[in-house]
Amino acid sequence: MILIDGKKAAAELREELKKEVIQLKSKYNTVPGLTVILIGELAPSKIYVKNKEKSAIEVGLKSEVIRYPETVDEKTVLNKINELNNDVNVSGILVQLPLPKHINKQKVIETILPSKDVDGFHPMNVGNLSSGYESSVPCTPLGCYLLIKKIEPNLNGKKAVVVGRSNLNGKPMTQLLLKENCTVTITHSKTKDLKGECLKGDIIIAAVGIPELVKGDWVKKDTIVIDVGINKTEKGIVGDVAFEEVSKVAKAITPVPGGVGPMTIACLLKNTIECFKRIQK
Ligand code: GUN
Repeated sequence: MILIDGKKAAAELREELKKEVIQLKSKYNTVPGLTVILIGELAPSKIYVKNKEKSAIEVGLKSEVIRYPETVDEKTVLNKINELNNDVNVSGILVQLPLPKHINKQKVIETILPSKDVDGFHPMNVGNLSSGYESSVPCTPLGCYLLIKKIEPNLNGKKAVVVGRSNLNGKPMTQLLLKENCTVTITHSKTKDLKGECLKGDIIIAAVGIPELVKGDWVKKDTIVIDVGINKTEKGIVGDVAFEEVSKVAKAITPVPGGVGPMTIACLLKNTIECFKRIQK
């Protein structure tokens, strides 16, 4: 069984990105810049944003965090996004989710210039990805995809089962796997015989937010299992996969924590660099 080391893969990716930033600096005399907008005081959001800032600086990007109190009005945020859209020093804009209820998430996402949308959440990027055109790709599925490709470079004809249908993970994950010629089944919490569906997968991506849903007898031998879940339980943080059981049958599996998580942030940096390069073109 291969334990997929997301920390190591992310560190390797950051090293590559660091080199690329040096090259870009010598070519354009400037480096890509990432601006994150953080609204409110949610602890997990604050931790994510701190990690993003630290990693951005580590690879040599310009990094800025704009903080607003929970009570900030929508107009202020939209005006700031428009200002950042027009700022040549800003290559990528990320508004940390979730947002307070009085701020319309869709409006916020649609205000970000698609070419600076490092999350790949703008409908233009979602559409381009599903049409197979160049686009920003959401960071978590992109990280999963890179981990899968490390284990199995040729995904032609593989059966992939995506558990979860969110805009953040399940749907973009499906698009990436389709591009690689996988046969993809999208399942979710209401799927009949989820176990039967999972048993058909050469690759399983669990991104449904149900602690330890995918069991040992749901997985056939030689399957690659990617666990996107981060669930707080009495026994601590667990994924959407019952790790102990599944690791006995799977060919390769990501741990939680230390699997997909570190790759998500590294992919955000990658996306920021990609946005910079597309703008320069
Ligand atoms: N909150 C949790 N994950 C994410 C993410 O990938 N992007 C944004 N913008 N907010 C998040």
